[in-house]
Amino acid sequence: MTDIVEKLYSTGNLSDSELEQLILTDDEETAELLKKYADETRRRYYGDKVFLRGLIEISSYCKNDCTYCGIRRSNKDADRYRLSREEILSCCENGYELGFRTFVMQGGEDPYFSDDVMVSIISEMREKYPDCAITLSLGERSRESYKKMKDAGADRYLLRHEAASEELYSKLHPKEMSLQNRKKCLFDLRELGYQVGAGFMVGAPFQTVKDLICDLRFLQELRPQMIGIGPFVPHHNTPFAEEKGGTLELTLRLLGILRLLFPKVLLPATTALGTISPIGRELGLKTGCNVVMPNLSPVKVRKKYDLYDNKICTGEEAAECRGCLQRRIESAGYTVANERGDQIDFKIK
Ligand code: 5AD
Ligand code: FES
Repeated sequence: MTDIVEKLYSTGNLSDSELEQLILTDDEETAELLKKYADETRRRYYGDKVFLRGLIEISSYCKNDCTYCGIRRSNKDADRYRLSREEILSCCENGYELGFRTFVMQGGEDPYFSDDVMVSIISEMREKYPDCAITLSLGERSRESYKKMKDAGADRYLLRHEAASEELYSKLHPKEMSLQNRKKCLFDLRELGYQVGAGFMVGAPFQTVKDLICDLRFLQELRPQMIGIGPFVPHHNTPFAEEKGGTLELTLRLLGILRLLFPKVLLPATTALGTISPIGRELGLKTGCNVVMPNLSPVKVRKKYDLYDNKICTGEEAAECRGCLQRRIESAGYTVANERGDQIDFKIK
């Protein structure tokens, strides 16, 4: 089994059947070697640096109805909020003080945040923080919309593809959504010059090893600058309430594989990973991750951005989250980089 890891490390790719074996094996020596090479690879390009992204959860309203998600429109019990422009800008002020040089505005697909509203917020942010990267994570929009926001000063866009196989995609999403449109959005974003983030959940209901391989192949086609993956975690008010969540082991396995398939990619140790294990993010960092995304949202809304059960970091002040993460990063053997943290070699247009 370790020879498959050797091959992945030395050639940067594997056949479908080798990937399948590597995803499925419970051989510990293989897992250890994957971790070692993943860490070696991230250190080759990024040293011991970990980049921070200040996450501002701007709205819990969503017009979509994704089966797995706690803020889906059918969840009538969800507590809805949206942040005002002033609140968003005050999160940035707070985050800048704490050393963040990337702000991520993430939210459900909330029609209130129209192109005009977003362009105006992005322009003001761009002017106030010329040295910061502005990242958006607002779901599917038109190419024109993405263009307007890019022209206003946005640099990056996170849109997980969620599942690259038609069959699984359709089980996780309502009829009116399509994998085809999801992919179109991602290719539009890339063409418009955004640094793009895609990704998927690990251990989603109905997901097979074939589906995971399909995700890896799609990522090889898209070549995103960032790849966000985390375990699926059930939410009690969704149709998937009784389903099992993704495991720590499988998520770490995929993180290691992703680091070796995409040596220079930005790979976050996600909040969902920290939710299923108290040391999930630390283990992620040791298995190739080089980004963490502390919560910068106002404390009063954190519990309302309720994508899945038991989400961590919903109580603390932003400063506490920053301090807590710094300790965690250092305890894992890495250092916090107070920089924008672009993917190396990415040419900013
Ligand atoms: N478990 C884990 N991740 C989830 N997301 C949404 N719902 C869940 C869940 N129940 C992820 C999706 C989305 C990102 C913002 O959060 O992949 O893209
Ligand atoms: Fe938020 Fe630890 S990272 S409290």
